[in-house]
Order: sequence, then C-alpha cells, then structure tokens
Amino acid sequence: MKPLKGLILSGGKGTRLRPITYTSAKQLVPVANKPVLFYGIEALADADIDEIGIIIAPETGAEIRAAAGDGSRFGVSITYIEQHAPLGLAHAVLTAEDFLGDSPFVMYLGDNLLRDGVVELVETFRTQSPDALILLTPVSDPENYGVAELDPDGRVARLVEKPKQPKTNLALVGVYMFTPSIFEAARAIEPSGRGELEITDAIQHLVDKRLRVDPHIVSGWWKDTGQVADMLEANHLILDDLEERVEGELVDSRVDGRVVIERGARLERATVRGPAIIGAGAQLVDAYVGPYTAIGPDVRIERAEVEYSIVLEGSSIEKLDGRIEASLIGRNVAVRRSDGLPRAYRFVAGDNAEIVIL
Ligand code: G1P
Repeated sequence: MKPLKGLILSGGKGTRLRPITYTSAKQLVPVANKPVLFYGIEALADADIDEIGIIIAPETGAEIRAAAGDGSRFGVSITYIEQHAPLGLAHAVLTAEDFLGDSPFVMYLGDNLLRDGVVELVETFRTQSPDALILLTPVSDPENYGVAELDPDGRVARLVEKPKQPKTNLALVGVYMFTPSIFEAARAIEPSGRGELEITDAIQHLVDKRLRVDPHIVSGWWKDTGQVADMLEANHLILDDLEERVEGELVDSRVDGRVVIERGARLERATVRGPAIIGAGAQLVDAYVGPYTAIGPDVRIERAEVEYSIVLEGSSIEKLDGRIEASLIGRNVAVRRSDGLPRAYRFVAGDNAEIVIL
C-alpha cells in the first residue's frame, strides 16, 4: 500500500459552542490548555503520516493556519485546502481530491479526540487492505451520530446518518480510513435533508457496491467536542492522563495530586487539587483550583474557587463567594464582585452567553 496521507476537517461554524466560536474556531478551543486540533495532528504524526491536508472554512481559515503553521513543529507538512461552504464531509473529501491523489488516507474530524490515537488502526488498515475502515463506539444518544448496523458476522450491513429511531447504539466515530474508491462514492450520492453530502451515505455507497468496509470498535474513549459539556468532559479525560510537572513558583501554596504548573505561573496562598493544569503566567492568589480544571495562560484568580472548568487565556476571576464549576470561560473575560453598593448583578454578556446563578 502507498504511504497514507492525512485529511483533517477543520471547517464548520461551531454553532453549538457559541459565543466562544464567534471569535475563535471551535477546533482551536483548548482542552488541557492545548487546541483540540493539535491532538488530531499529533495522532496522525504518531502514526507516521507526514503529509496532512487541513480543510478550512473561509471564516476561520486564517486563524487555523496561524495556529498550526506549516506543520514543522509537529514534524509533518501541512497543506491548507479551503472548502468554500460547509456542504458536508463527503464534499470536503472531494474538495481535497487533488491533494489526496491516489493515496489511501485517514480522515480525522478536527473536533474529535481519540484516547488511543490511530497508530494501531493505521497498521490494521495497511495490513488488511480493506476499501475503507470505519471506527464505531457504543453511545447513549446514537440519534446524534451516524449509526451502524452490523450483520451476524460482524460486517457492516447498513449506515444511517442521525436516524430518528436508531437500530443500534453504535455511533460512527469521526475518524475514517479510505482508499481512493471514496471519491466515486462521494460523487454518486445526493445531499441529505440538512443539505450536506454525508460521508455516512458515501460509505453506504461503498457497501452497496460490495466493496469491503471493515468496522473497528473503539476500546479507549472517544469524544466529539461539539458542545460545552463535551469540551468539559474531554478536558476531564485528557487531564486524567496528565503527568505531574511543577515549574511555576509556589508561595505558601499547596499542590495535591497530578498537577501541571507551567513555568512563569505564580501561586500565592493557593491550593490546586489535581488533575489540573495552570498555564504560563497565570496568577492564583488566595485561590482554590479543583480537579479537572484547565487554567489558561495569563489568567488571574484571586479570592475565588474554580473546579471542573476551562478558563481561557487572559481572563480574571476575583472576589467570589461561591465556587465556579462546570464552566467554559472565554478569552479576556472578567468576573468579579465589586465592593460598591447597590449589591446587584451587573453583566456585559455577549450574544448567546449563558449565566447561571444559584
Ligand atoms: C459527523 C458525522 C457523523 C459522525 C460524527 C462524529 O456528524 O456526520 O456520522 O458520527 O461526525 O463526530 P456532525 O458532527 O457533522 O453532526
């Protein structure tokens, strides 16, 4: 088999992560202080895939390019391919046809995280040489995904995109392995109800043509980070594998469990209970940071408590009585209690912001 190329899809509007995605691409929202997209690039690089195409949208492409660059920092070469409109995953494959040529390839959705990466899967694909290899995992809400039905021999019988009444709980994971046979399939299908050329339908076309589509059930966790709750859960899962490293400055402070304190961060009378990560230049003063929290670079937390949350670069949280929890706080956000009267809540909240007070 020829060497595999990689195709990462990093377009889309990220509507379910608004307002964060008004100013930033969803694939660049950090999980454990690293953009989701970078986990995908690293997963492909680990599998010795060194030519990667990234599909970008006109709106967020420049930001993705600026973040991932030419790929040299990941040891790969990145080619950016613009998809003029979000017309579906199969449309994205066709958009990348010139880049992919006649190479087999791994397609990786840029907002997906796969704990065990793709090294073994690429190996299986190389040695078994099916026409396509799809990844499946049992989920509790299959109606939100592509759903697979297997026949009694464990072969793929049918694939349906977001069925109202799913026949199984096996969801299609956003990582696929294809041979060039997928191009003809993507050209043969019609747009779905949501007006997109679905990759699920293209794979079904391969099945209909009696090409070999092998299923692989994922054993480690998989997360599609489309929504805030998913981002927080992904953050939890990644932090669970964190290796302790304390390089910042601790003054009268306590760090329990697996914690990363980046160089240049400063803790003063603060407690951090891991797993948690504190970014470079962050300042924690009279503060508590609890498990499964990622505090971004240059964040300030003073006389406040934060747990099971993601706080992005440059934000500040000050003088709060209650603990902040299960929150995703964007860049340069300020949350503070003022000393003045009247004691009232005062907000400058962006469109689609959500503020919950108990
Ligand atoms: C896409 C695919 C779906 C797959 C999912 C995985 O859904 O269409 O089949 O299960 O990714 O993340 P979308 O994110 O476009 O709703």
